[in-house]
Amino acid sequence: MGNLVIVTGASSGLGLSIARQVPFEARVVDISRSGPPPDSGIEHIDADLSEVGEWPEVAAAVRQMVKDESPERSALIHAAGTLSPMGFAGEVEDLPYAANILLNSASGQFLGHAYLSAVAGRKGDHDLVMVSSGAASTPYQGWSSYGAGKAALNHWVRHAGEEQKLRGGVRVSAIAPGVIDTSMQTEIRKMPEKDFPRVERFRDLHDEGKLVSPDEAARRFWQVVESGLETGSVVDLRAY
Ligand SMILES: NC(=O)c1ccc[n+]([C@@H]2O[C@H](COP(=O)([O-])OP(=O)(O)OC[C@H]3O[C@@H](n4cnc5c(N)ncnc54)[C@H](OP(=O)(O)O)[C@@H]3O)[C@@H](O)[C@H]2O)c1
Repeated sequence: MGNLVIVTGASSGLGLSIARQVPFEARVVDISRSGPPPDSGIEHIDADLSEVGEWPEVAAAVRQMVKDESPERSALIHAAGTLSPMGFAGEVEDLPYAANILLNSASGQFLGHAYLSAVAGRKGDHDLVMVSSGAASTPYQGWSSYGAGKAALNHWVRHAGEEQKLRGGVRVSAIAPGVIDTSMQTEIRKMPEKDFPRVERFRDLHDEGKLVSPDEAARRFWQVVESGLETGSVVDLRAY
């Protein structure tokens, strides 16, 4: 019996920093395709979350871990996400576009549902956090499915948060982290203006040293989570 923190996308970037900085003793488990560094002490479940066929097995693993640990403190953080394929709707390839929709939006909702069912009726302190983005409310040409996916997660959090007020008691929230110095930003800066017209702004933010390190973002992320957000909250770390 022990605390449990599950982080999707803890193989790199923000998810890895969040998994490394869990502010309490816990079993920490990543769900991704490539896995965290071997010396990280973070366990790994191998899954491609854009593949719907893999979801039932991942859900079963989440439920089993909760059952095994019977945690008084637990969290599931959905940090896995992708901007790929950047480009305009109607111009990008079909299958990568479908994968983007499934990973960014649908897998978070499904895993959130699986986690809520796993912790339902258990005593203690449980957090379900979706890593969101400013793109959920600001449109960027070239990011249609990404922005729509994050907006869907935000609204899912509002709905599920309302439900958890009635029963369940899990704190459900969405946290947008700001602009973080990860491989996602490297990919953004490489884009041609034709497919991502605002690319220059992101190159400038990088050149002006305005990107936040994943470790600093993870430190603030946990500060906000540990402050005990009201369930259903959708917040931006830049406001803290
Ligand atoms: N960087 C920013 O400026 C920024 C701003 C706002 C929001 N965010 C959000 O922050 C989160 C982390 O992004 P990041 O910047 O740290 O990017 P990153 O370094 O590219 O990390 C993305 C993570 O998602 C995982 N992932 C991608 N596709 C996956 C799939 N099909 N199945 C399972 N896992 C998958 C990756 O693992 P594998 O490749 O090993 O599968 C990786 O661990 C994302 O939700 C992103 O939308 C980032």
